[in-house]
Amino acid sequence: MQITNNFINSPYFGTTGHSYLRQTKDKKEKPAICYTNLFRLDMNWDYFASFLNRHFRNSDKVQILNHACSDGSEPYTIAMTLEKKLDKKADKFFPIKAFDYCGELIEEAKKGRINITYDPDELCFDEYGIDKSKYFTPESPNNRSSQLKPHRVNENLKTKVEFRQGDILESLSDMENNTKNTVLMCRNVVPYLSSKERRELLALISEKMGKDSVVVFGAYDMQNFGSFIHPCMMIGGFKKADMFYDSPVYVKREDS
Ligand SMILES: C[S@@+](CC[C@H](N)C(=O)[O-])C[C@H]1O[C@@H](n2cnc3c(N)ncnc32)[C@H](O)[C@@H]1O
Repeated sequence: MQITNNFINSPYFGTTGHSYLRQTKDKKEKPAICYTNLFRLDMNWDYFASFLNRHFRNSDKVQILNHACSDGSEPYTIAMTLEKKLDKKADKFFPIKAFDYCGELIEEAKKGRINITYDPDELCFDEYGIDKSKYFTPESPNNRSSQLKPHRVNENLKTKVEFRQGDILESLSDMENNTKNTVLMCRNVVPYLSSKERRELLALISEKMGKDSVVVFGAYDMQNFGSFIHPCMMIGGFKKADMFYDSPVYVKREDS
């Protein structure tokens, strides 16, 4: 599988400025951009953490599978907000298993390195009442761009996320059918798939997620393919449990 990379040195892109061409299963080349943020604004992360707490109140262990995690901003956001809201009760959700197709980003993430951009990440630490210095230590800027703000992820947060390179379709195919006590994050990746892969993804989600499991998409998915995703999820046995701003949260129904 051939991957070409280049960096975009914009202040809104850190490690996440990666873009590459991915060869789809049907042998097409699709561009993928690894854009992400800590506390990405299409979701209220506080409400999401409370939802997970309520929804899984009777489970001792819950696995969070964070596919298309880019540089780790998303799983770190979930880990920080869960810990802030639930304290020790958050432990049953850790470690979050985080995957992305892009091996280079995953290698950086495994080293505990991340570029935190100016805005909105910085502001959101205050919004969510999270002390940034508890989780990240600034490092001196690299020479790619003085606007990038490299940080080291502190050990406490690093242990809460396990990174692995992985294609979302292959990883889901390897899962057992009807997996319970699972949260599947597949946010803002759907537009990067070919139409054949999109159909396969929705079919796999329906097959692999067991009763009460949770699936979350992002605003970019819904803006582009919401009219396809939502009916497929309904037919696939899910109900829309909530909508934390622009990100729908689906739960596998009892009767499916
Ligand atoms: C826009 S980013 C989304 C990052 C994060 N989920 C968020 O919402 O902020 C899209 C990510 O999808 C990844 N990606 C694209 N195709 C993929 C595939 N087939 N399997 C796994 N990851 C993929 C890209 O490498 C990129 O990091």
